[in-house]
Amino acid sequence: MSFARHSDAVHVRAPGKINVHLGVGARHEDGYHSLATVFQAVSLYEDVYATASDGFSISVVGDVDVSEVPLDDRNLALRAARLLAQTADVDQGVHLDIRKGVPVAGGMGGGSADAAAALVACDALWGTELGSRRLHELAARLGADVPFALHGGTAIGTGRGDVLTPALARGRFDWVLVLSEQGLSTPEIYGRLDRMRMRGRALADDATELLEVPPAVLQALRAGDPAELAPVMMNDLEPAAVADRPDLELALADGVRMGALTGIVSGSGPTIAFLCAGPEAARAVQEELRATGRQALHVHGAVPGAQLMG
Ligand code: C5P
Repeated sequence: MSFARHSDAVHVRAPGKINVHLGVGARHEDGYHSLATVFQAVSLYEDVYATASDGFSISVVGDVDVSEVPLDDRNLALRAARLLAQTADVDQGVHLDIRKGVPVAGGMGGGSADAAAALVACDALWGTELGSRRLHELAARLGADVPFALHGGTAIGTGRGDVLTPALARGRFDWVLVLSEQGLSTPEIYGRLDRMRMRGRALADDATELLEVPPAVLQALRAGDPAELAPVMMNDLEPAAVADRPDLELALADGVRMGALTGIVSGSGPTIAFLCAGPEAARAVQEELRATGRQALHVHGAVPGAQLMG
């Protein structure tokens, strides 16, 4: 991807995320579940380059396997561009060139980051100047995780995960991600959790009013202390994500044995996020995991949300 090719493009970068805490409540009629979650944006990015065009089109390349990314209207970035054009009464089109760094179907919100980046890029390209509140509204219509990809940093998500409150997080948290070749479908994992709960194999927190982020999680983030955060991290989707995936159970155990403070499935998986004591500890865990043939990346959080790069 040469600079010349993109010299006339608007470039926006948006981060992937980890759910430091993911509490899942009841399923509602629209198919969505109530959530109490804490997102942290990490230094793994989607780069979106938007150029003026007559129609709406998309191309995708990546550091990760992009063969499963749809290039038609199922693509969330393309839907984001069309939604913005409709809302702001724009009669121009756009070509979106996406370079993916976040694993596809990995539970790290890569598609949501593309959509957030596309909103910001098209807003700049077309001069629609919708403002952050309107962009946030459009983001929430596109998907539950899209507002957070706009927002970035560390934030509490309630409702479907789209109602955000910034969370104070001091310092830097070092994560080692273990990527999986075989992705997982988010709706399928939520559906499996519902079935497991019905059979009584996972506890249901049906009283959604009581669904809240434990104060200990927020305190550990405020303290900027990974050793305090590690024992209180939790993901309700984890039992559903690791069912039928012994490779994930094994990776979780291996990372901790190799020195990570703890490991957690990211969102609906299958990416695993290991929290480490600091950059050096993370590099050591990453090396050991790589030595077992796994694809392991060292990232840190929190980083900003979708940003105009030029
Ligand atoms: O909004 P998004 O496209 O990211 O959600 C993908 C799927 O994940 C939804 O269709 C739904 O099945 C599930 N989901 C959910 N409850 C949420 C967020 C997502 O059940 N709060």
